[in-house]
Amino acid sequence: MKNVVLRCKICGQTYPPEPRYMCETCFGPLEAFVTPQDDPMTLRQRILAGPPSLWRYVDFLPVERPLAGPHTGWTPLKKAENLGRMLGLRHLYLKDDSVNHPTLSFKDRVVSVALTKAQEFGMDTVSCASTGNLANAVAAQAAHLGLRAVVFIPADLEPQKRVGSGVFGPLVVAVDGNYDQVNRLCTEIADDLGWGFVNINLRPYYAEGSKTLAFETVEQLGWRAPDAVVAPVASGSLYTKLWKGFQEFRRTGLIEGPLPRMYGAQAAGCAPIAQAWKAGREEVQPVKPRTIAKSIAIGNPADGMFALQVARESRGGFEAVTDREIVETMRLLAETEGIFTETAGGTTIAILRKLAREGAFDPDETVVAYITGNGYKTLEVVADGLEEPVAIAPTWEDFENRVLPRLTAPVPALS
Ligand SMILES: Cc1ncc(COP(=O)(O)O)c(C=O)c1O
Ligand SMILES: [Zn+2]
Repeated sequence: MKNVVLRCKICGQTYPPEPRYMCETCFGPLEAFVTPQDDPMTLRQRILAGPPSLWRYVDFLPVERPLAGPHTGWTPLKKAENLGRMLGLRHLYLKDDSVNHPTLSFKDRVVSVALTKAQEFGMDTVSCASTGNLANAVAAQAAHLGLRAVVFIPADLEPQKRVGSGVFGPLVVAVDGNYDQVNRLCTEIADDLGWGFVNINLRPYYAEGSKTLAFETVEQLGWRAPDAVVAPVASGSLYTKLWKGFQEFRRTGLIEGPLPRMYGAQAAGCAPIAQAWKAGREEVQPVKPRTIAKSIAIGNPADGMFALQVARESRGGFEAVTDREIVETMRLLAETEGIFTETAGGTTIAILRKLAREGAFDPDETVVAYITGNGYKTLEVVADGLEEPVAIAPTWEDFENRVLPRLTAPVPALS
């Protein structure tokens, strides 16, 4: 049996690894801790011999053995030469979870861990409160495992994300309200049902899955941490767990030296953590979301306070950008690097650009931006601004008259 413990993030009280998420003493959130017993050489060899998935890091995850997501994780870390040149960064990398398996977002990671734990606990129904991507991931993996899935989403979600859940056959519950209302409802019902709500009563286990993004980054960079990272922030879970991942690799001796400055990216229409950061507050005041970046539209972030601590401790920070900038940088990323990300990725790249322009990075630093979702799920936000295709008849004349004159600009790579 692995050495797994739940610990209260506020008072430090510990609990055995049960389906529990709140401290009985102070009502603080619980966090899972796994302590690998081996020396760094042994751990590293086991990782290197592991599968090309997030499960190569099973020693650092709070489950006995993988029972879900056999193909999740181990996504590309792409050197972004073109975007890097534009931003004055010689070592810019994109960690591309827009191609994660099976549902094209980083949520496949957290769900792989949560559904493994749900099965360890003997739960037959899994559920979540979701801004879209999580519902897709829960529905897909539950289908594969033969579990019943009930996913709760805000009624105004992007159509592609609705379809991207419904196709797997779960019960989709569209709540007439925003994510924070969906989450409140799910928190009220989670305790009574014996279901595994991945981001509520399984949250301590679920959240650990995001550490694998940090682990993969380190391994793919050749066993070193970047100098700075930029990641999108909704509840703050991904952002705080990236930091925990880097810390755990250093604590176990898998890497040495300084850890990255952690920059968090929010949309201005829902930026409670960025606002607290700018105002120098240590606590987050909830806001009412109004942004096209629906996947990160959480007005009352569960891990907001802890995210602020990570920004301070790592000497990073928080920024927010407008919806217009988000769409602009979704296109910029697509046109420079051939990666089509959704609004959360646009937010990340917009903030990367903002920080680069403000001189937050040295040109020789290694900077990693986390692309956590796929643009095919938020098509309508970019569709409007695109040029219509050149419409022609199937004739040489039309080709010559309408197409060739459009090709007067030089090929980008040659210009
Ligand atoms: C694509 C994408 N990126 C980032 C996030 C942020 O996640 P967190 O709630 O862990 O901050 C989400 C959350 O739903 C998301 O869907
Ligand atoms: Zn406590």
